[in-house]
Amino acid sequence: MKIIGFAADHAGYELKESLKLFLSDQGYGIKDFGTHSTESMDYPDVAHPLAKAIENGEADFGIAICGTGNGMAMTLNKHQGIRAGLAWIPEIASLVKRHNNANILVLPARFIDGDTAKKCVMAYIDGKFEGGRHERRINKIPAE
Ligand code: RB5
Repeated sequence: MKIIGFAADHAGYELKESLKLFLSDQGYGIKDFGTHSTESMDYPDVAHPLAKAIENGEADFGIAICGTGNGMAMTLNKHQGIRAGLAWIPEIASLVKRHNNANILVLPARFIDGDTAKKCVMAYIDGKFEGGRHERRINKIPAE
């Protein structure tokens, strides 16, 4: 069973809960790194544990959510083993897997509706990394 790691701040909490239900109904295992309410919190406190879990293989891939998605993406991408990509329409969610082989999909809860978020998640999951020139490019991403 594929395990999806989830992290969201207070702005992303409700979308995280609905995506967890949606994906567990489809047979995915869920590992939830928080947050667990709409009470204000700091996204790095849940982003770093999610990134580490993906780097060490506890989760196969991740979904991270905050208000704009940017705080999550900035934090997650500090980890050398993480490629976190922000998407708000299914086409970008598909490309973030096909071209960037993102291991975390980042969603902007305050700028996306629930139905579009589900479509983004499925486009990301169904996308297959195309390799070739894209592999060469992602291999150049890590900083020295
Ligand atoms: C929280 O208000 C908001 O700053 C956060 O969810 C996110 O958008 C930060 O990048």
